Amino acid sequence: MEYSVKSGNPEKQRSACVVVGVFESRRLSSAAARIDEASGGFLTQLGRRGDMEGRLGQTLMLTNVPDTLCDRVLLVGCGREREFDDGAYRQAVAAMTNALHDSGAVEAVSYLPDLPVKARDNIWRVREAVQTVDSTLYRFDRLKSRKDTPRRPLRKLTLSVPSRRDLAPGERAAREGHAIAQGMGVARDLGNLPGNICTPTYLADQARELAEQYERLEVDILGPGEMEELGMGALLSVARGSRQEPRLIVMRYRGTDSDARPYALVGKGVTFDSGGISIKPAAAMDEMKFDMCGAASVFGTVKSVLELELPINVVGVVAATENMPDGNASKPGDIVTTASGQTVEILNTDAEGRLALCDALTYTERFNPETVIDIATLTGACIIALGHEAHAVLGNHHSLVSELMHAGRATADRCWELPLWDEYQEALNSNFADMANVGGRPAGTITAACFLSRFTKKQRWAHLDIAGTAWKSGDQKGATGRPVPLLTQYLIDRT
Ligand code: BES
Ligand code: MN
Ligand code: ZN
Repeated sequence: MEYSVKSGNPEKQRSACVVVGVFESRRLSSAAARIDEASGGFLTQLGRRGDMEGRLGQTLMLTNVPDTLCDRVLLVGCGREREFDDGAYRQAVAAMTNALHDSGAVEAVSYLPDLPVKARDNIWRVREAVQTVDSTLYRFDRLKSRKDTPRRPLRKLTLSVPSRRDLAPGERAAREGHAIAQGMGVARDLGNLPGNICTPTYLADQARELAEQYERLEVDILGPGEMEELGMGALLSVARGSRQEPRLIVMRYRGTDSDARPYALVGKGVTFDSGGISIKPAAAMDEMKFDMCGAASVFGTVKSVLELELPINVVGVVAATENMPDGNASKPGDIVTTASGQTVEILNTDAEGRLALCDALTYTERFNPETVIDIATLTGACIIALGHEAHAVLGNHHSLVSELMHAGRATADRCWELPLWDEYQEALNSNFADMANVGGRPAGTITAACFLSRFTKKQRWAHLDIAGTAWKSGDQKGATGRPVPLLTQYLIDRT
C-alpha cells in the first residue's frame, strides 16, 4: 500500500472515495459536516432515515453525493465522541479498511485522522492509521491453495492533516507507521508459520536473506559446534532432544559510522515447544509453534529499523531451537554448565526458554551494548498475571524500564512492570547446582526473570515476557506482531 498525506477540504477531493467519521448519535464530524453542507444536507437526510447512527464500526458507502468531486463517500461510525480513545480510533480505521477493501475503490482520501482521539495529536493519528490499515489488510494465506485477494484492491491511501504546516511531520509519521507495520508483518509471518517449516535453520536463512536485501545489515550464524566451543551448555541442552540443529542468529545493523554502543535485542526462538521430557498436555499444543515470537519480534524490529534507517547501531540475537522429547533429550535432574560458567539443575525441561536465553544473553556481552532487552514467550504465569493486554516488563535498570513503558504507551503496545526483588531469587535455590531452572508455582513470571537476571548482572537489561500478547487464540488465531511497535519506538526515541 502507498500512503501519503494531504491538507484540504473533503468536498473538493477528486478521489475514488472520501472517508469521514460520524459519531453517535448521528453527530457529524467536521469533515462530514463540510460534505453535508456542500451537498445541501445530504448526510443529514440520510441520518434521519436511520441509515447511519454512528455506532462504532458501522459503515455506509454512498455514491453520487451531490456537489462533491469524489466517486464515493464512506461514512464510518465512531461511537460516542467523549469515549473516542486509542481502541475506538483503531476500530474505526479497521472498519474503514474493510469497507474499502470490499469496495471497488483502489484509492481513497481519509479524514479519520482529523478526529479528536483522547490525548493523542494528529501525528499520532496518522501513524496509527497507517499501522492499523496495514494490519487489517494482513492475511496469512501462503499455505492455502485459494487466496482471497480482491479484484480491485485498495492501492493508495491519502490521510488528511489539518494544515500545510502539518505535511512534513505527517509524512514522517506515515513513514514510521508503515515501517512499523512492515516489521509487524515480518513478525506475524514468522510467528504464523508452522513448526515444520519455521525451524531454527529456516530462521537463520531468513536472517541471511534480510542481510542480502539491506547493506547496513550483517549476519553471523552459529551452529552446535561453535556453541560447544563457547560452552553454551544450557542452549545445547534444549536442542538435544530434537532432530533440528539449533542456531544462534546474530544480526548487526550499522546505522552510524561511529563505534557507538549498539542497542541489543535478544529473542527466544523456540520454534516448537513440546515441553521436552516434562511434556505438555495435548490441548492447544499447536500454539507452541508461536514460542519463537520473541525472536520474530527481533526480526520485525530489525526490519523496521532497516526501513527507517535509524542513525543508531542495533544488534539482534536470536536463540533458535526446538524443545522435543527423545532418547537424547535432557531429563529432569540433569545439570548443565552455561556459557557464563554457572551451573543449572534442570528440574523441568519445559522451562526451556530461560535456558536458551541465558547463553544468548552471555554471548551478547561481547557487543558491549548500551542496553539489552530480551523478548520471550517465557511463562504461562504471565497470562495469569496480565492477561492479553500488557507485556510484562522486568529489569535491573530503572530508567530502561520506564523508557520501555513510555514507548509502549506512545504506540498503544503497552507493558507493565512486575517487581524483580532479591527476595524472589531464593525460589531458584538448588541442592546440587548454582541454581534450578524453575522456582515453583508462585510468581512464575518473576522467578523466570530472576533466572535471567543472573546472566545480565554486567548489563543494563530489561526482559519482556510476551506470553499473553504475542498471539491470539480461538477463531482469530494468529501472531499479533507485538511488541514490534514498542521496540521500534524505543529505538526511535534513542535517536
Ligand atoms: N513457552 C512456554 C510458556 C507459555 C506457555 C507461553 C503457554 C504461552 C502459553 C514456556 O516454555 C513454558 O513452558 N513455561 C513453563 C514454565 C514452568 C515449567 C516453570 C510454564 O509457564 O508453564
Ligand atoms: Mn516450555
Ligand atoms: Zn517455551
